[in-house]
Amino acid sequence: MKLVEARFVTSATTAEGIPRDGIPHVALVGRSNVGKSSLLNAMTRAALARTSAAAGKTRLANLYRVTVEGGPGGPGRWDLYFADLPGYGYARGGAASVEELRKIAEAYFAAPAGRVSRPGGEADLKVRPTLVLHLVDSRHPSLESDRDAADWLAGLDVERAVLATKIDKLSRGERVKNLRELERQLGHAALPISAASGEGLDDLWTLIAKLTRR
Ligand code: GTP
Ligand code: MG
Repeated sequence: MKLVEARFVTSATTAEGIPRDGIPHVALVGRSNVGKSSLLNAMTRAALARTSAAAGKTRLANLYRVTVEGGPGGPGRWDLYFADLPGYGYARGGAASVEELRKIAEAYFAAPAGRVSRPGGEADLKVRPTLVLHLVDSRHPSLESDRDAADWLAGLDVERAVLATKIDKLSRGERVKNLRELERQLGHAALPISAASGEGLDDLWTLIAKLTRR
């Protein structure tokens, strides 16, 4: 599997601003500061998404378009969008701001099906993301906000994977204990990953290829 191209497309504020051209979407969801933008950068080996030590930086749904060559499914090029959604559980502006971020995410997930002109005619489009990557911090396996988000995501008709981020920060013992606790809390086994060390990124690409490649 080889990355051919990765580029920033747009910062969307409303559902209408999100490209719906039939290319699969992979949405990154998680608490502020969990490592969404860092994961995108690590996966695309480029400084695509802005990362920050200050939480709450991604205020909009940022869309990135990626072209990959090969992988599970054989040779050939395939495309996807990564949607870096605003983090939950933090906001500089207090409760009202949390609500604002939640609305953006909900608009992204619940946008009504639309029709878009394409060369060769119009096509009905699948609007919901093909795959949701739910990022949770491997150091904090029992957060209520993560459980709430997992419940909300479970109610959507979409494939999801739980990613345990910053796994490089855990000792061997903590790692086993926290991964077990995460699975218990969220009802879903978590894939351990690290944007810092690169652990788990190949497995994640394989998962994405299997679930989105057509
Ligand atoms: P928002 O956009 O605010 O929602 O945050 P985010 O989820 O995009 O987090 P971001 O990628 O900006 O990372 C937050 C902080 O965690 C930064 O200081 C990163 O360097 C750090 N970080 C992210 N991933 C890892 C990782 O795998 N290992 C370590 N050690 N640090 C990480
Ligand atoms: Mg971010």
